Amino acid sequence: MAERFIVEGGHPLRGSVAVSGSKNAAVAAIAAALLTADDCYLENLPDIGDVEFMARVLESLGVEVERPSPSSLRLNAGRVTSTSPASELVVSLRASFMVMGPLLARFGQAACPPPGGDVIGQRPIDVHLAGFAAMGADIRRQGEKFVAEAPALGGARIFMDYPSVLGTQNVMLAATLAKGTTVIINAAAEPEIVGLAELLNKMGARVHGAGGHTVEIEGVEALHGARHAIIPDRIEAGTFAIAAAISRGDLRIAGAVPQHLQSLVAKLREAGAQVDEDEGSLGVCCPSELRAVSIQAVPYPGLPTDLQAPMAALLTQATGVSYVHERVFDNRLLYVSELRKMGAEVVSTGTTAIVSGPTPLIGTSVRALDIRAGAALLLAALVARGRTEISDIYHLNRGYQRIDEKLRSIGAVINAE
Ligand code: EPU
Repeated sequence: MAERFIVEGGHPLRGSVAVSGSKNAAVAAIAAALLTADDCYLENLPDIGDVEFMARVLESLGVEVERPSPSSLRLNAGRVTSTSPASELVVSLRASFMVMGPLLARFGQAACPPPGGDVIGQRPIDVHLAGFAAMGADIRRQGEKFVAEAPALGGARIFMDYPSVLGTQNVMLAATLAKGTTVIINAAAEPEIVGLAELLNKMGARVHGAGGHTVEIEGVEALHGARHAIIPDRIEAGTFAIAAAISRGDLRIAGAVPQHLQSLVAKLREAGAQVDEDEGSLGVCCPSELRAVSIQAVPYPGLPTDLQAPMAALLTQATGVSYVHERVFDNRLLYVSELRKMGAEVVSTGTTAIVSGPTPLIGTSVRALDIRAGAALLLAALVARGRTEISDIYHLNRGYQRIDEKLRSIGAVINAE
Protein backbone atom coordinates (compact mmCIF):
# COMPACT_ATOMS: atom_id res chain seq x y z
CA MET A 1 0.00 0.00 0.00
CA ALA A 2 1.49 3.36 -1.04
CA GLU A 3 2.11 5.83 1.77
CA ARG A 4 2.78 9.07 -0.06
CA PHE A 5 2.11 10.94 -3.25
CA ILE A 6 4.93 12.75 -4.99
CA VAL A 7 3.57 15.52 -7.17
CA GLU A 8 5.49 17.66 -9.64
CA GLY A 9 3.63 20.91 -10.06
CA GLY A 10 3.05 23.14 -13.05
CA HIS A 11 1.09 20.91 -15.42
CA PRO A 12 -2.37 22.14 -16.44
CA LEU A 13 -5.07 19.45 -16.31
CA ARG A 14 -6.80 18.82 -19.62
CA GLY A 15 -9.26 16.30 -21.01
CA SER A 16 -12.07 14.37 -19.42
CA VAL A 17 -12.29 12.66 -16.04
CA ALA A 18 -15.12 10.44 -14.76
CA VAL A 19 -16.72 10.87 -11.35
CA SER A 20 -17.23 7.76 -9.18
CA GLY A 21 -20.20 6.99 -6.95
CA SER A 22 -20.72 9.13 -3.86
CA LYS A 23 -18.86 8.04 -0.73
CA ASN A 24 -21.42 9.45 1.64
CA ALA A 25 -24.42 8.11 -0.29
CA ALA A 26 -22.73 4.70 -0.47
CA VAL A 27 -22.20 4.27 3.27
CA ALA A 28 -25.84 5.17 3.99
CA ALA A 29 -27.07 2.71 1.35
CA ILE A 30 -24.99 -0.07 2.89
CA ALA A 31 -26.61 0.61 6.29
CA ALA A 32 -30.07 0.41 4.67
CA ALA A 33 -29.46 -3.23 3.72
CA LEU A 34 -29.91 -4.06 7.43
CA LEU A 35 -33.62 -3.28 7.12
CA THR A 36 -34.51 -6.42 5.16
CA ALA A 37 -33.79 -10.14 5.10
CA ASP A 38 -33.68 -10.01 1.27
CA ASP A 39 -30.71 -9.38 -1.00
CA CYS A 40 -29.84 -5.74 -1.69
CA TYR A 41 -27.69 -5.01 -4.74
CA LEU A 42 -25.77 -1.75 -4.73
CA GLU A 43 -24.13 -0.50 -7.91
CA ASN A 44 -21.87 2.41 -8.86
CA LEU A 45 -20.15 2.19 -5.49
CA PRO A 46 -16.81 3.98 -5.28
CA ASP A 47 -13.88 1.60 -4.81
CA ILE A 48 -12.57 3.35 -1.68
CA GLY A 49 -11.55 2.56 1.87
CA ASP A 50 -14.69 3.85 3.60
CA VAL A 51 -17.01 1.61 1.55
CA GLU A 52 -14.84 -1.40 2.28
CA PHE A 53 -14.89 -0.43 5.93
CA MET A 54 -18.66 0.04 6.13
CA ALA A 55 -19.13 -3.38 4.52
CA ARG A 56 -16.90 -4.82 7.27
CA VAL A 57 -19.06 -3.17 9.92
CA LEU A 58 -22.10 -5.02 8.51
CA GLU A 59 -20.12 -8.25 8.28
CA SER A 60 -19.37 -7.91 12.00
CA LEU A 61 -23.15 -8.11 12.54
CA GLY A 62 -23.50 -11.32 10.54
CA VAL A 63 -24.51 -9.73 7.23
CA GLU A 64 -23.46 -11.68 4.15
CA VAL A 65 -21.39 -9.42 1.92
CA GLU A 66 -20.38 -10.33 -1.60
CA ARG A 67 -18.54 -8.10 -4.05
CA PRO A 68 -19.46 -9.17 -7.60
CA SER A 69 -17.31 -6.34 -9.00
CA PRO A 70 -15.19 -3.47 -7.59
CA SER A 71 -18.20 -1.15 -7.92
CA SER A 72 -20.99 -3.41 -6.65
CA LEU A 73 -22.04 -5.25 -3.53
CA ARG A 74 -24.65 -7.85 -2.67
CA LEU A 75 -25.70 -7.57 0.95
CA ASN A 76 -27.94 -10.00 2.76
CA ALA A 77 -29.04 -9.33 6.34
CA GLY A 78 -31.17 -12.50 6.58
CA ARG A 79 -29.10 -13.95 9.43
CA VAL A 80 -28.01 -11.07 11.62
CA THR A 81 -26.14 -12.49 14.61
CA SER A 82 -25.47 -9.32 16.61
CA THR A 83 -27.01 -5.89 17.16
CA SER A 84 -23.73 -4.40 18.28
CA PRO A 85 -21.00 -3.80 15.70
CA ALA A 86 -17.34 -4.38 16.55
CA SER A 87 -16.18 -1.34 18.54
CA GLU A 88 -12.78 -1.19 16.87
CA LEU A 89 -14.55 -0.64 13.54
CA VAL A 90 -17.01 1.95 14.84
CA VAL A 91 -14.33 4.12 16.38
CA SER A 92 -12.63 4.46 12.99
CA LEU A 93 -15.61 5.37 10.82
CA ARG A 94 -18.27 7.82 11.85
CA ALA A 95 -20.80 6.55 9.31
CA SER A 96 -20.84 3.19 11.10
CA PHE A 97 -23.17 4.75 13.72
CA MET A 98 -25.83 4.58 10.99
CA VAL A 99 -26.36 0.90 11.77
CA MET A 100 -28.17 2.02 14.97
CA GLY A 101 -31.38 3.16 13.24
CA PRO A 102 -31.99 0.04 11.14
CA LEU A 103 -30.96 -2.40 13.91
CA LEU A 104 -33.25 -0.69 16.41
CA ALA A 105 -36.17 -0.64 13.97
CA ARG A 106 -35.85 -4.25 12.87
CA PHE A 107 -34.58 -6.02 16.00
CA GLY A 108 -35.73 -3.72 18.80
CA GLN A 109 -32.24 -3.02 20.07
CA ALA A 110 -28.86 -1.69 19.05
CA ALA A 111 -25.64 -0.86 20.86
CA CYS A 112 -22.72 1.15 19.57
CA PRO A 113 -19.85 3.16 21.02
CA PRO A 114 -19.64 6.84 20.05
CA PRO A 115 -18.31 6.83 16.49
CA GLY A 116 -14.86 8.11 15.56
CA GLY A 117 -13.89 9.55 12.22
CA ASP A 118 -12.00 12.57 10.95
CA VAL A 119 -10.72 15.05 13.50
CA ILE A 120 -12.63 18.06 12.22
CA GLY A 121 -14.36 19.25 15.36
CA GLN A 122 -16.82 18.13 17.97
CA ARG A 123 -19.10 15.63 16.36
CA PRO A 124 -21.88 14.84 18.82
CA ILE A 125 -24.67 12.33 18.15
CA ASP A 126 -27.35 13.92 20.29
CA VAL A 127 -29.56 14.56 17.25
CA HIS A 128 -29.56 10.85 16.34
CA LEU A 129 -30.34 9.75 19.89
CA ALA A 130 -33.04 12.40 20.43
CA GLY A 131 -34.75 11.13 17.27
CA PHE A 132 -34.74 7.51 18.48
CA ALA A 133 -36.00 8.61 21.90
CA ALA A 134 -38.86 10.57 20.32
CA MET A 135 -39.89 7.37 18.53
CA GLY A 136 -40.13 5.64 21.90
CA ALA A 137 -36.69 4.11 22.33
CA ASP A 138 -35.08 3.87 25.71
CA ILE A 139 -31.52 5.20 25.43
CA ARG A 140 -28.87 4.50 28.03
CA ARG A 141 -25.11 4.35 28.33
CA GLN A 142 -23.62 0.95 29.15
CA GLY A 143 -19.87 1.14 29.53
CA GLU A 144 -18.48 2.68 26.36
CA LYS A 145 -21.65 1.99 24.37
CA PHE A 146 -24.92 3.75 23.74
CA VAL A 147 -27.73 1.22 24.00
CA ALA A 148 -31.10 1.88 22.36
CA GLU A 149 -34.07 -0.40 23.01
CA ALA A 150 -37.69 -0.34 21.89
CA PRO A 151 -40.00 -3.33 21.48
CA ALA A 152 -41.63 -1.31 18.69
CA LEU A 153 -40.83 2.17 17.46
CA GLY A 154 -43.72 4.61 16.98
CA GLY A 155 -43.99 7.47 14.53
CA ALA A 156 -43.16 10.88 16.00
CA ARG A 157 -42.78 14.54 15.16
CA ILE A 158 -39.07 15.26 15.52
CA PHE A 159 -37.45 18.68 15.48
CA MET A 160 -33.73 18.40 14.75
CA ASP A 161 -31.61 20.92 16.64
CA TYR A 162 -29.20 20.88 13.70
CA PRO A 163 -29.82 19.52 10.18
CA SER A 164 -27.29 16.73 10.66
CA VAL A 165 -26.70 14.59 7.57
CA LEU A 166 -26.04 11.29 9.34
CA GLY A 167 -28.62 12.16 12.02
CA THR A 168 -31.34 12.66 9.40
CA GLN A 169 -30.38 9.43 7.66
CA ASN A 170 -30.27 7.44 10.89
CA VAL A 171 -33.73 8.63 11.94
CA MET A 172 -35.12 8.04 8.43
CA LEU A 173 -33.78 4.48 8.49
CA ALA A 174 -35.37 3.82 11.87
CA ALA A 175 -38.70 5.41 10.94
CA THR A 176 -39.27 3.20 7.88
CA LEU A 177 -40.37 0.32 10.13
CA ALA A 178 -42.01 2.37 12.92
CA LYS A 179 -45.72 2.15 13.60
CA GLY A 180 -47.24 5.35 12.26
CA THR A 181 -45.83 8.42 10.56
CA THR A 182 -42.64 10.24 11.51
CA VAL A 183 -42.06 13.84 10.50
CA ILE A 184 -38.52 15.21 10.67
CA ILE A 185 -38.47 18.99 10.87
CA ASN A 186 -35.20 20.83 10.10
CA ALA A 187 -33.95 17.73 8.27
CA ALA A 188 -30.73 17.87 6.27
CA ALA A 189 -31.38 18.39 2.56
CA GLU A 190 -28.17 17.08 0.98
CA PRO A 191 -28.45 15.02 -2.24
CA GLU A 192 -27.25 11.99 -0.25
CA ILE A 193 -30.48 12.18 1.76
CA VAL A 194 -32.46 12.07 -1.48
CA GLY A 195 -30.37 9.11 -2.65
CA LEU A 196 -31.15 7.21 0.55
CA ALA A 197 -34.88 8.02 0.30
CA GLU A 198 -34.91 6.66 -3.25
CA LEU A 199 -33.33 3.40 -2.15
CA LEU A 200 -35.68 3.07 0.84
CA ASN A 201 -38.72 3.66 -1.38
CA LYS A 202 -37.47 0.98 -3.79
CA MET A 203 -37.35 -1.33 -0.75
CA GLY A 204 -41.02 -0.60 -0.04
CA ALA A 205 -40.68 2.32 2.38
CA ARG A 206 -42.82 5.45 2.15
CA VAL A 207 -40.52 8.44 2.43
CA HIS A 208 -41.72 11.82 1.18
CA GLY A 209 -40.11 15.24 1.03
CA ALA A 210 -36.43 14.20 1.03
CA GLY A 211 -34.33 17.07 -0.29
CA GLY A 212 -36.47 19.57 1.62
CA HIS A 213 -36.26 20.44 5.29
CA THR A 214 -39.37 18.45 6.29
CA VAL A 215 -39.20 14.73 5.61
CA GLU A 216 -42.18 12.48 6.26
CA ILE A 217 -41.84 8.72 6.68
CA GLU A 218 -44.93 6.51 6.89
CA GLY A 219 -43.87 3.34 8.65
CA VAL A 220 -44.53 -0.02 6.96
CA GLU A 221 -44.60 -3.62 8.28
CA ALA A 222 -41.55 -4.86 6.40
CA LEU A 223 -39.15 -3.91 3.63
CA HIS A 224 -37.90 -6.04 0.75
CA GLY A 225 -34.71 -6.22 -1.31
CA ALA A 226 -33.82 -3.79 -4.08
CA ARG A 227 -31.25 -2.92 -6.70
CA HIS A 228 -29.89 0.61 -6.52
CA ALA A 229 -27.21 2.71 -8.21
CA ILE A 230 -25.36 5.22 -6.03
CA ILE A 231 -25.48 8.88 -7.13
CA PRO A 232 -22.27 10.50 -8.47
CA ASP A 233 -19.96 11.99 -5.86
CA ARG A 234 -20.54 15.74 -5.86
CA ILE A 235 -17.49 16.35 -3.66
CA GLU A 236 -15.18 14.42 -5.98
CA ALA A 237 -16.69 16.30 -8.95
CA GLY A 238 -16.19 19.59 -7.11
CA THR A 239 -12.59 18.71 -6.29
CA PHE A 240 -11.86 18.13 -10.00
CA ALA A 241 -13.63 21.38 -10.91
CA ILE A 242 -11.33 23.23 -8.51
CA ALA A 243 -8.35 21.28 -9.89
CA ALA A 244 -9.17 22.54 -13.40
CA ALA A 245 -9.31 26.13 -12.15
CA ILE A 246 -6.18 26.07 -9.99
CA SER A 247 -4.05 24.42 -12.68
CA ARG A 248 -5.39 26.78 -15.39
CA GLY A 249 -6.49 23.72 -17.26
CA ASP A 250 -9.58 22.76 -19.20
CA LEU A 251 -11.52 19.78 -17.88
CA ARG A 252 -14.76 17.99 -18.60
CA ILE A 253 -16.00 16.28 -15.47
CA ALA A 254 -18.11 13.42 -16.76
CA GLY A 255 -20.94 12.18 -14.57
CA ALA A 256 -21.07 15.34 -12.43
CA VAL A 257 -24.58 16.54 -11.58
CA PRO A 258 -24.44 20.35 -11.95
CA GLN A 259 -27.65 20.68 -9.91
CA HIS A 260 -25.78 19.29 -6.90
CA LEU A 261 -22.98 21.85 -7.26
CA GLN A 262 -24.73 25.17 -7.78
CA SER A 263 -22.95 26.86 -4.85
CA LEU A 264 -19.53 25.84 -6.15
CA VAL A 265 -20.35 26.80 -9.75
CA ALA A 266 -21.40 30.28 -8.59
CA LYS A 267 -18.20 30.78 -6.58
CA LEU A 268 -15.92 29.49 -9.33
CA ARG A 269 -17.52 31.92 -11.78
CA GLU A 270 -17.21 34.77 -9.29
CA ALA A 271 -13.51 33.90 -8.97
CA GLY A 272 -13.07 34.15 -12.75
CA ALA A 273 -13.31 30.53 -13.93
CA GLN A 274 -15.51 29.58 -16.87
CA VAL A 275 -17.99 26.83 -16.06
CA ASP A 276 -20.44 25.21 -18.42
CA GLU A 277 -23.18 22.99 -17.13
CA ASP A 278 -24.45 20.06 -19.13
CA GLU A 279 -27.03 17.39 -18.38
CA GLY A 280 -24.47 14.94 -17.01
CA SER A 281 -21.20 16.82 -16.88
CA LEU A 282 -19.46 20.00 -15.94
CA GLY A 283 -16.82 21.82 -18.00
CA VAL A 284 -14.33 24.05 -16.20
CA CYS A 285 -11.51 26.18 -17.55
CA CYS A 286 -9.73 29.24 -16.34
CA PRO A 287 -8.21 31.36 -19.08
CA SER A 288 -7.80 34.56 -17.06
CA GLU A 289 -6.59 35.62 -13.61
CA LEU A 290 -8.37 34.34 -10.54
CA ARG A 291 -9.98 36.91 -8.25
CA ALA A 292 -10.33 36.66 -4.45
CA VAL A 293 -13.80 35.64 -3.25
CA SER A 294 -15.21 35.01 0.18
CA ILE A 295 -16.91 31.72 0.93
CA GLN A 296 -19.01 30.24 3.70
CA ALA A 297 -19.29 26.49 4.20
CA VAL A 298 -22.86 25.80 5.31
CA PRO A 299 -25.44 23.00 4.92
CA TYR A 300 -26.81 22.21 1.43
CA PRO A 301 -27.56 23.95 -0.89
CA GLY A 302 -24.78 26.18 0.43
CA LEU A 303 -21.13 25.55 -0.29
CA PRO A 304 -20.26 22.12 1.18
CA THR A 305 -17.86 22.01 4.11
CA ASP A 306 -16.18 19.15 2.26
CA LEU A 307 -15.07 21.65 -0.42
CA GLN A 308 -13.98 24.37 1.99
CA ALA A 309 -10.31 23.26 2.20
CA PRO A 310 -10.01 22.65 -1.58
CA MET A 311 -11.44 26.14 -2.20
CA ALA A 312 -8.92 27.67 0.21
CA ALA A 313 -6.13 26.05 -1.83
CA LEU A 314 -7.59 27.62 -4.98
CA LEU A 315 -7.79 31.05 -3.34
CA THR A 316 -4.03 31.05 -2.64
CA GLN A 317 -3.78 31.64 -6.40
CA ALA A 318 -6.40 34.42 -6.56
CA THR A 319 -5.58 38.12 -6.52
CA GLY A 320 -6.69 39.82 -3.32
CA VAL A 321 -7.84 38.78 0.13
CA SER A 322 -10.36 35.95 0.51
CA TYR A 323 -12.27 35.09 3.67
CA VAL A 324 -13.05 31.40 4.13
CA HIS A 325 -15.68 30.82 6.81
CA GLU A 326 -16.30 27.28 8.06
CA ARG A 327 -19.79 27.25 9.60
CA VAL A 328 -20.39 23.50 9.93
CA PHE A 329 -17.48 22.05 11.90
CA ASP A 330 -15.45 23.84 14.56
CA ASN A 331 -12.00 22.44 13.72
CA ARG A 332 -11.73 22.08 9.98
CA LEU A 333 -8.90 24.51 9.25
CA LEU A 334 -5.98 22.30 10.32
CA TYR A 335 -4.77 22.23 6.70
CA VAL A 336 -3.82 25.91 7.03
CA SER A 337 -0.48 25.11 8.66
CA GLU A 338 0.30 22.61 5.89
CA LEU A 339 -0.53 25.16 3.17
CA ARG A 340 1.71 27.67 4.92
CA LYS A 341 4.61 25.22 4.67
CA MET A 342 4.14 25.47 0.91
CA GLY A 343 4.40 29.26 1.03
CA ALA A 344 0.71 30.17 1.13
CA GLU A 345 -0.19 33.39 2.86
CA VAL A 346 -3.03 32.11 4.95
CA VAL A 347 -3.92 32.56 8.61
CA SER A 348 -6.74 31.09 10.60
CA THR A 349 -8.69 32.75 13.38
CA GLY A 350 -11.16 30.33 14.95
CA THR A 351 -13.30 29.04 12.13
CA THR A 352 -12.21 31.59 9.53
CA ALA A 353 -9.17 31.43 7.28
CA ILE A 354 -7.91 34.57 5.59
CA VAL A 355 -6.07 33.92 2.36
CA SER A 356 -3.97 36.54 0.56
CA GLY A 357 -2.95 35.88 -2.98
CA PRO A 358 -1.65 35.15 -5.38
CA THR A 359 1.36 33.50 -3.77
CA PRO A 360 3.75 31.20 -5.57
CA LEU A 361 3.64 27.81 -3.85
CA ILE A 362 6.75 25.74 -3.34
CA GLY A 363 6.90 21.96 -3.20
CA THR A 364 7.79 20.52 0.21
CA SER A 365 6.72 17.71 2.58
CA VAL A 366 3.17 17.97 3.94
CA ARG A 367 0.64 15.69 5.62
CA ALA A 368 -2.90 14.84 4.60
CA LEU A 369 -4.68 15.38 7.94
CA ASP A 370 -8.12 14.22 6.75
CA ILE A 371 -9.73 13.42 3.43
CA ARG A 372 -10.53 16.96 2.39
CA ALA A 373 -7.41 18.53 3.90
CA GLY A 374 -5.49 15.99 1.81
CA ALA A 375 -7.40 17.05 -1.29
CA ALA A 376 -6.50 20.69 -0.63
CA LEU A 377 -2.81 19.83 -0.48
CA LEU A 378 -3.02 17.78 -3.64
CA LEU A 379 -4.57 20.77 -5.42
CA ALA A 380 -1.89 23.10 -4.06
CA ALA A 381 0.78 20.62 -5.19
CA LEU A 382 -0.55 20.75 -8.76
CA VAL A 383 0.60 24.38 -9.01
CA ALA A 384 3.58 24.34 -6.67
CA ARG A 385 7.09 24.82 -8.00
CA GLY A 386 9.04 21.59 -7.73
CA ARG A 387 8.05 18.39 -5.92
CA THR A 388 5.52 18.10 -3.13
CA GLU A 389 5.54 15.00 -0.97
CA ILE A 390 2.15 14.32 0.63
CA SER A 391 2.21 11.71 3.40
CA ASP A 392 -0.66 9.88 5.17
CA ILE A 393 -2.46 9.45 1.85
CA TYR A 394 -4.61 6.69 3.31
CA HIS A 395 -6.97 9.55 4.17
CA LEU A 396 -7.28 10.41 0.47
CA ASN A 397 -7.75 6.77 -0.46
CA ARG A 398 -10.58 6.48 2.06
CA GLY A 399 -12.62 9.00 0.11
CA TYR A 400 -11.38 9.35 -3.46
CA GLN A 401 -11.25 6.44 -5.88
CA ARG A 402 -7.68 6.13 -7.22
CA ILE A 403 -7.26 9.88 -7.35
CA ASP A 404 -3.63 9.60 -8.48
CA GLU A 405 -4.57 7.52 -11.53
CA LYS A 406 -7.40 9.88 -12.40
CA LEU A 407 -5.15 12.93 -12.09
CA ARG A 408 -2.42 11.28 -14.16
CA SER A 409 -4.90 10.55 -16.94
CA ILE A 410 -5.58 14.29 -17.31
CA GLY A 411 -1.99 15.45 -17.28
CA ALA A 412 -0.84 15.65 -13.65
CA VAL A 413 2.60 14.35 -12.80
CA ILE A 414 1.96 12.30 -9.68
CA ASN A 415 3.39 9.07 -8.31
CA ALA A 416 2.40 6.92 -5.37
CA GLU A 417 5.23 5.44 -3.27
N1 EPU B 1 -24.13 17.88 15.01
C1 EPU B 1 -24.75 18.05 16.23
N2 EPU B 1 -25.42 16.99 16.77
C2 EPU B 1 -25.48 15.78 16.15
C3 EPU B 1 -24.86 15.62 14.92
C4 EPU B 1 -24.18 16.69 14.37
O1 EPU B 1 -24.69 19.12 16.79
O2 EPU B 1 -26.10 14.87 16.72
C5 EPU B 1 -23.38 19.01 14.42
C6 EPU B 1 -21.90 18.70 14.31
O3 EPU B 1 -21.22 19.01 15.50
C7 EPU B 1 -21.46 19.57 13.16
C8 EPU B 1 -22.70 19.65 12.30
O4 EPU B 1 -23.78 19.15 13.09
O5 EPU B 1 -21.14 20.84 13.63
C9 EPU B 1 -22.66 18.87 11.01
O6 EPU B 1 -22.55 17.52 11.24
P1 EPU B 1 -23.36 16.44 10.44
O7 EPU B 1 -23.97 15.53 11.43
O8 EPU B 1 -24.24 17.04 9.40
O9 EPU B 1 -22.14 15.71 9.74
P2 EPU B 1 -22.04 14.16 9.59
O10 EPU B 1 -23.39 13.67 9.27
O11 EPU B 1 -21.30 13.57 10.72
C10 EPU B 1 -21.67 14.11 7.02
C11 EPU B 1 -20.61 13.66 6.08
C12 EPU B 1 -19.40 14.57 6.21
C13 EPU B 1 -19.83 15.98 5.88
C14 EPU B 1 -20.97 16.40 6.80
C15 EPU B 1 -21.55 17.77 6.50
C16 EPU B 1 -20.99 11.27 5.91
C17 EPU B 1 -20.49 9.90 6.15
N3 EPU B 1 -20.25 12.27 6.36
O12 EPU B 1 -21.12 14.02 8.32
O13 EPU B 1 -18.44 14.12 5.26
O14 EPU B 1 -18.74 16.86 6.05
O15 EPU B 1 -22.06 15.45 6.70
O16 EPU B 1 -22.01 17.82 5.19
O17 EPU B 1 -22.02 11.43 5.28
C18 EPU B 1 -16.30 13.86 4.33
O18 EPU B 1 -16.85 13.29 3.39
O19 EPU B 1 -15.08 14.18 4.32
C19 EPU B 1 -17.10 14.17 5.51
C20 EPU B 1 -16.56 14.51 6.69
